[in-house]
Amino acid sequence: MKLERNLGFDLQRATEAAALRSARWMGRGDKNEADGAAVDAMRFALESMDMDGIVVIGEGEKDEAPMLYIGERIGNGNPPEVDIAVDPVEGTTLLAQGMPGAIAVVAAAERGSLFNPPGIVYMDKIAVGESAKGCIDINAPVAENIRNVAKALKKQVEDVTVVVLDRPRHNDLVAQIRETGARIKVILHGDVAGSLMPSMMEAPADILMGIGGAPESVISACAMKCTNGEIQCKLWPRNEKERQLALTNGLDLDKVYTTDDLVQGENVFWAATGITTGEFLKGVQFLGWGATTHSLVMRSASGTVRYIESRHRWDKLMAISGLRFDER
Ligand code: FBP
Repeated sequence: MKLERNLGFDLQRATEAAALRSARWMGRGDKNEADGAAVDAMRFALESMDMDGIVVIGEGEKDEAPMLYIGERIGNGNPPEVDIAVDPVEGTTLLAQGMPGAIAVVAAAERGSLFNPPGIVYMDKIAVGESAKGCIDINAPVAENIRNVAKALKKQVEDVTVVVLDRPRHNDLVAQIRETGARIKVILHGDVAGSLMPSMMEAPADILMGIGGAPESVISACAMKCTNGEIQCKLWPRNEKERQLALTNGLDLDKVYTTDDLVQGENVFWAATGITTGEFLKGVQFLGWGATTHSLVMRSASGTVRYIESRHRWDKLMAISGLRFDER
């Protein structure tokens, strides 16, 4: 299927809306309210989009999420038929605690192309940018991956920066990375942004390693399709119950999920807007009469990566949307 129209710009309007609404909750300690505000605004923007979308990665199953639940139809029903992966706030704790790096993100790809492992919360991941593509193997020892990435990037191992989520489950991984001499960039949350870091022009990190959310893996893979980076993942059941569930669902715990397994299509659109300022996106800035946003919009078919700064006026925005942007 050919998708001529760049859906990325419509997706960006949705991530902007989510960021504008949820940024009001920065530092207020309430993850649910912050997330709820983003979900409302994101859904409002997505539902009027010219597309026949199905949420494949969303806020959860229908009975636990009133909106953007897995399986929800979204858009006005006109072609194209697409799968949607959405995270209205990636890094809810970052936002609620007023810390850097929370983003609103959504991706669209051809119908049936996005993977969603039922019942699996976490995946083990490794991701790199284009220059180190083809040099990683999630089954190889940590040191070997770091050495190979260093070689591909023409760096010394000591120059390589590995981005890792700060979790006790990564104690051993961190020890292995330290052993090699490589540097570590610790992130508290937000491994979608972490997985993209090696793909950015002035990359704040060279490899992402470690265990994070399974839905986030798919959103990251959509980004890799656009930047020509690479992600490899393996299912990481937390306990015997999840392991058995995965096996019952016919999932292979030894399988390496490549970028192409996570996103099968070649037409992928990806947009994110900064909520709180992070490594490559500025957060929402409130100006009294409106606000500014900073977004990243990407398309796999063209490989175009756009940074877009937008200025929003509350009076006009509220008149056309009916949503309150000037208050919490
Ligand atoms: P939320 O925005 O849903 O809180 O996710 C943030 C996040 O840090 C993800 O980026 C990451 O994949 C996942 O949580 C890691 O999960 P956990 O915090 O349970 O280790």
